[in-house]
Amino acid sequence: MRFHVLTLFPEVFPGPLAHSMVGRALGKGLLSLQVSDIRAYTHDAHGTADDYQFGGGAGMVMKPEPIFEAVEAALAPYPPEQRGSIPVALTSPQGKLLDQKLAQELARAPALVIICGHYAGVDARVSQRLATHEISIGDYVLTGGELPAMVIIDTVARFVPGVVGSAENVMEDSITSGLLQHPIYTRPAEFRGLAVPEVLLSGHHARIARWRREESLRRTLAQRPDLLARADLSVEDLKFLEGLGYEVKQK
Ligand SMILES: C[S@@+](CC[C@H](N)C(=O)[O-])C[C@H]1O[C@@H](n2cnc3c(N)ncnc32)[C@H](O)[C@@H]1O
Repeated sequence: MRFHVLTLFPEVFPGPLAHSMVGRALGKGLLSLQVSDIRAYTHDAHGTADDYQFGGGAGMVMKPEPIFEAVEAALAPYPPEQRGSIPVALTSPQGKLLDQKLAQELARAPALVIICGHYAGVDARVSQRLATHEISIGDYVLTGGELPAMVIIDTVARFVPGVVGSAENVMEDSITSGLLQHPIYTRPAEFRGLAVPEVLLSGHHARIARWRREESLRRTLAQRPDLLARADLSVEDLKFLEGLGYEVKQK
């Protein structure tokens, strides 16, 4: 899968994306990252990519023309019949919150174009006419879209076949599975008086699977009870949750 990032600060890439699993996938060609400087698509001697806000107000606004041109240049190498299937994502705190479902959906495309905003934001015509998606990484405001672009790429990349060791790992991740993941341990079996639960050392696969499921349910109830209403729960799961005080609402 190919990621195109359009930014006023190309030097911050690849940053953390050069490391670990995403870095290896870039090295192997499973992913590719093309970073374009939006300023390269300006047409004045000063490379002006932002301007004052119509109607007054604090902060500069990123101009539409270089962003439209940068997106058109990123899409130009793709055959016309493929262009329509390539999402163009504008990073914005006003966008749809990024979650595993959206990341999985984006990972099905052959490429993803990401526009990084800055200053007071981006001229509204970019979201009106150019972007197919407006994506927020959380209910807080950052100074620019570069960190959100990295977060989006890392999250989407995990769904690209071959990037993470096994597809099973990805599907067992918290949230993707519908619940929070059970606690995980490695050696030593005892550390500073804290022992790994005995069942995990038992070699009894069915007991281990049930323990993991129950711990996953227990954690989700304690930390993200909102997820339970949407999770795929068996009769056994519901009985276990009821024992923990969870009230099952009729759907
Ligand atoms: C300071 S913000 C502008 C916020 C804008 N004034 C508003 O209220 O929507 C500058 C840029 O950072 C990026 N950004 C900030 N917070 C973000 C978030 N939570 N998710 C995604 N992008 C964000 C966007 O690209 C945005 O255009």
